[in-house]
Amino acid sequence: MNPTFRAPRGIGGEYTPPPDKSITHRSLMLAAVSSGKSTVINALATGDCVSTRRCLEGLGCSIQQSDHHLVVQGAGLRGLEEPKRPLDAENSGTTTRLLAGLLAGLPIFAVLTGDQSLLARPMARVVQPLRQMGARIEGRDGGRFAPLCFLPGRGDLTPLSYSLPVPSAQVKSCLLLAGLRAGGPSRITGKTHSRDHTERMLSALGVRLSSSSEELVLHPPSALPPFQVEVPGDVSSAAFFIAASLISGRNLLVRGCGVNPTRNGFLNVVRRMGARVDIREEHASLGEPSGTIEVNGASLSGTRIDAEEVPELIDEIPLLAVLGLFSDGVTEVRGAEELRFKESDRLAMITRLVEGLGGRLQVFDDGFAVEGPQKLRAGTIDPQGDHRIAMAAAVAAAGVPGGVQVAGFECAAVSYPDFARDFAALGGELT
Ligand code: S3P
Repeated sequence: MNPTFRAPRGIGGEYTPPPDKSITHRSLMLAAVSSGKSTVINALATGDCVSTRRCLEGLGCSIQQSDHHLVVQGAGLRGLEEPKRPLDAENSGTTTRLLAGLLAGLPIFAVLTGDQSLLARPMARVVQPLRQMGARIEGRDGGRFAPLCFLPGRGDLTPLSYSLPVPSAQVKSCLLLAGLRAGGPSRITGKTHSRDHTERMLSALGVRLSSSSEELVLHPPSALPPFQVEVPGDVSSAAFFIAASLISGRNLLVRGCGVNPTRNGFLNVVRRMGARVDIREEHASLGEPSGTIEVNGASLSGTRIDAEEVPELIDEIPLLAVLGLFSDGVTEVRGAEELRFKESDRLAMITRLVEGLGGRLQVFDDGFAVEGPQKLRAGTIDPQGDHRIAMAAAVAAAGVPGGVQVAGFECAAVSYPDFARDFAALGGELT
């Protein structure tokens, strides 16, 4: 599928983004280890979250579709069963790293694998602290890469005291999930500032979890109660159309969207660049706030994004490069070396995207600088299977009159299955 995206009248209007990927993963996993029947309303039902669902089913967990809900029969904190075959996380780093936390130390043998992109992503960041907790994990290249092999544990895990060296919510969540089965409180310090969905959901389920800017302390519960959760819209998916509307100089109203402050970095940055952004919190489910985001276009100016801000907008950085092309002055991102370890080396892919449309960008080991406004030409971008690069390229079409063709666009389904439909509904054209 190699569609060409065009937006001669711009992108704007009113819409509801697809369900949040991060919250769907966590809802399914927490439900799988709760002690009863949980209901997940508005779960993301494609790509990465299907990988999580299949892995949990492989561990003996029953997950049934009922109307628009998923009903998950929890196995309890120590009740997941030995899988008969390797668990395939496909393209999903979140599935792999969070599941590693659920599997560590269980009395079962399990193998966790994935696609070519996943097999190249760093896993020592979870394997090493989990081994410190007493989990027996083997893996390719000494455990640096998947496939990972979990050997049966012998009793509860050792409580962890660990300083996070990378600001990764996947690693933090992995350790919190493992900590649920430790023999005492676990303490995580260091780079703990990143999306806090796991902390919010565990606290809402009654787990004793104290969190400050310096440390997280989790007291293992005897069990997790079953629950009902309604997954909000994904602000990272909404960000694509927010960016497209800003390039178009049009307004966008986003309904039913997650507004968790640890995910709002992109909104803060576009505000700083000159856009008007109103966030109205209207609802909360299992500790996760959601509501309406109203974005009013204006002419944008470049800005600088440093390491402290990066965890709150890590997935939106390709979009900041695209926005920088259409803004006055320099947009510079630094402290984002983690982008090299995503579904692709995203700093390399951002450079290819910009250059593929005739633009210029200076790339650093940990970020980039782009000076705008630049005049771009129509072109074809091959995102090499990276969903966020594919959609960022489509967004650029809002400022490229000849349009942007994206090769292999089906990869967008990993997080946003109906992107093309929504692009058309908001005023774009696809051929
Ligand atoms: C995610 C955390 C981020 C993000 C990913 C989803 C999560 O990864 O890039 O898309 O759900 O915890 P890192 O934790 O590796 O930064």
